[in-house]
Amino acid sequence: MTENNVSTSNEGANTDQVFIFDTTLRDGEQSPGATMTLEEKLQIAELLDDMGVDIIEAGFPIASNGDFEAVSEIARRSKNAVIAGLSRAIIADIDRAGAAVKHAPRGRIHTFVSTSPIHLAHQMKKSEEEVLEIVSTTVTHARNLIDDVEWSAMDATRTPVEYLARCVDAAIRAGATTINIPDTVGYATPEDHFQLFRDLIEMVPDSDKVIFSAHCHNDLGLAVANSLAAVRAGARQVECTINGLGERAGNAALEELVMAIRTRADAMPYHTGIETTHLARASKIVATAANFTVQFNKAIVGKNAFAHESGIHQDGMLKNAETYEIMTPESVGIKATSLVMGKHSGRHAFREKLKELGYDLGDNQFQEAFQRFKDLADRKKHVYDEDLIALVDDEIGTAADRIKLVGMEVLSKTGGVHRCDLVLDVEGEKIAVSVEGTGSVDAIFNAIKRAVNADPRLVVYGVDSITGGTDAQANAHVRLEMNNRIVSGRATEPDTLVASARAYLNAYNRLTIERGSAAQGALAG
Ligand code: KIV
Ligand code: ZN
Repeated sequence: MTENNVSTSNEGANTDQVFIFDTTLRDGEQSPGATMTLEEKLQIAELLDDMGVDIIEAGFPIASNGDFEAVSEIARRSKNAVIAGLSRAIIADIDRAGAAVKHAPRGRIHTFVSTSPIHLAHQMKKSEEEVLEIVSTTVTHARNLIDDVEWSAMDATRTPVEYLARCVDAAIRAGATTINIPDTVGYATPEDHFQLFRDLIEMVPDSDKVIFSAHCHNDLGLAVANSLAAVRAGARQVECTINGLGERAGNAALEELVMAIRTRADAMPYHTGIETTHLARASKIVATAANFTVQFNKAIVGKNAFAHESGIHQDGMLKNAETYEIMTPESVGIKATSLVMGKHSGRHAFREKLKELGYDLGDNQFQEAFQRFKDLADRKKHVYDEDLIALVDDEIGTAADRIKLVGMEVLSKTGGVHRCDLVLDVEGEKIAVSVEGTGSVDAIFNAIKRAVNADPRLVVYGVDSITGGTDAQANAHVRLEMNNRIVSGRATEPDTLVASARAYLNAYNRLTIERGSAAQGALAG
């Protein structure tokens, strides 16, 4: 078997390749506030494909027309990766997933049903025998649509192993080619998980005909350890997300799994097909698109992951990097900050620089980004790679916004009035308002609410800087809640108040993106 050549049989268990199944665009996007636009999803999917991810779970097609379109478009554009669409154990869901992934050179339907007593009693209100019947009929239906079918037992780790083995057996008999055993609630320990996979592989007659897969949530901080324990027991697919994004405490982090397997090949004799030098960029792009800041001390991709602060460590590093470094920053794609260009740089140099940073923009987006680069270079003395990355990501993240900021003026007096005069473009119509607040940011947000005639709840507001220096660009993020939905927005600007206004608008625009609620509500993790 070669890299990026996903096998549909557990003969894979006899080889040392572990298939990477990325679910950033499905389980990751289920995180409250992590809604992404189509443009962002396409950008992430392209990056994952280039990086060597074996299977990309692109979304949950029945959830909304937007999800269906995203999965279909990702499927159309896919190069090497298998594109999976999720579906509940419902015929209409499976048909929708099949219709979305059929555009891919290699598509997969991923269907799941709960198997644990607590889910059967309270959520499904079905008996064990009824669920077994559902497994058979739904997997058979999926197999009639496509050759590559993954079946998942939701809440598998709280399901008695004898019953779980019967379900797995039914799924294999019906034609499933991958069997996923999710730790939906993040309850397992590495020892439990190893034993569970060992038992299932031993108990189920045709277990050698399929690939076993681990899907671990991180509620106890054990998701990566549990996934690796499953691999040791014979699993050859791990489901994970960039930055560990996902429901509640998230999923196993792709970058941690991949680098653990690579760095500790002595203890874990496996490999993945991932080009690890893409990891830092993938982390940045997902953090920006989902508006989830990566904690500074996050393994592999955190700002401090390769920073050596103490004198003893610095001394050792200067003498020989291996004294305190088990992997190099370059191996995960971290480069030293570099000065880019100034205001005299032309279109050609700008395009080349974007290429080097991994961007390939369409004509319109390129023109917009170039214009913004020129404006920035006029105002800011040094423009760094980080500035350019923020600028282009901002362009991609806000391109679909229906409501845009035309202009604003803020008056702020110590102990006095704080007022914002604001003009918005709402799908071509100009709306002007003048509103006061208890401070300048309050006045800006009040003005936007008045102009769009809505009152979402502000859940999070924060600003940080892209680089050092008082002329650094501000990166503002805003999380809003309305009608039981939470979304995030962000914007990058040289001016903090303009960045704040645009971040608020970006979040509000995302609140108006259509999302399905019934199907989303049925997903636990
Ligand atoms: O955590 C889980 O059980 C899931 C399934 C839908 C695979 O995400
Ligand atoms: Zn999950």
